[in-house]
Amino acid sequence: MQKPEKIILVGGSGYVGTAYQAYFNAHNIPFITLSHSSLNLCDKDAVLHTFKELKPNFVLNAAGYTGKPNVDAAELEKTRCLLANTILPGVLHEVCSHLKIPWGHISSGCIYTGAHPDGSGFLEEDTPNFTFRQNNCSFYSGTKAIAEEIINNGSHCYIWRLRIPFNEVDGPRNYLSKVMRYSKLLEARNSISQLDEFVRATWLCWERHIPYGVYNVVNPGSVTTSEVVAKIRQRNLVDKNFEFFKDEAEFMRVAAKVPRANCVMDCNKLLKAGIPMTEIHEAIDWALDHWRPA
Ligand SMILES: NC(=O)c1ccc[n+]([C@@H]2O[C@H](COP(=O)([O-])OP(=O)(O)OC[C@H]3O[C@@H](n4cnc5c(N)ncnc54)[C@H](OP(=O)(O)O)[C@@H]3O)[C@@H](O)[C@H]2O)c1
Repeated sequence: MQKPEKIILVGGSGYVGTAYQAYFNAHNIPFITLSHSSLNLCDKDAVLHTFKELKPNFVLNAAGYTGKPNVDAAELEKTRCLLANTILPGVLHEVCSHLKIPWGHISSGCIYTGAHPDGSGFLEEDTPNFTFRQNNCSFYSGTKAIAEEIINNGSHCYIWRLRIPFNEVDGPRNYLSKVMRYSKLLEARNSISQLDEFVRATWLCWERHIPYGVYNVVNPGSVTTSEVVAKIRQRNLVDKNFEFFKDEAEFMRVAAKVPRANCVMDCNKLLKAGIPMTEIHEAIDWALDHWRPA
């Protein structure tokens, strides 16, 4: 008989972690959250001791430091960023490998910039091109890329790359809300992830025991900022004139401290594993048609 699920959710209080909590509660999946007030997750011995006691059959790491209100803030909080995004997953990697506990780590598409020359998206095996190794990235992206380097040799780990989450619930972390609220926008093409589909897809990876490894968990296709603005305008969701920066140089001069990782990602690996996600324009349309306050 299969063992009942005993999940440890790390980072459950965050934007992404809260979506996991909602999913687990809706599907009657029992889980325990571990917060850094109860356990120092960067302390390997303490984590080892706790996992030996709790004996989870899956650990999900939704912890991290993204910088608030945006990634520029991470430039001022480098220690916090490094601990949450690199050391913490490194500790989980060592402990889970030692105890042979399968686990999943939320990574990010922000370790890439641009697209392939033919416009196609980056594949899971493409070497990240927005990292400390290229010396072109934000501190946040650099710390996420190093975490992948540390974890990637783990034999029973999923690395799920999330990219610019959104859904139909208005809020400061939702990409669609950000587009509605920013005083001026940067035109860029991106692959993005509907948050609740991301959570479902990642959970199905574990539930269906698809092969471990890296997965780009984004909605198929890509979208530009102006396409998103047009969809918001069509529905009259905000009463304002959307303004755009002339180009990235003006954006960098006026509004940002570090370059952004705008990129296109290929999600066919997930699809081939039998886990489809909604086409991106369709997913945005649905979210905007069901737009609601938090
Ligand atoms: N949101 C995005 O746009 C986005 C995009 C791509 C990837 N991701 C990744 O998704 C993950 C979750 O992001 P999020 O947006 O949900 O972030 P968030 O809302 O800031 O939540 C972060 C979570 O991590 C916990 N945490 C932070 N530092 C910790 C530490 N040193 N030890 C233990 N727990 C710690 C926080 O706990 P407290 O609340 O107790 O501090 C919180 O539960 C991160 O790995 C992030 O890189 C996010």
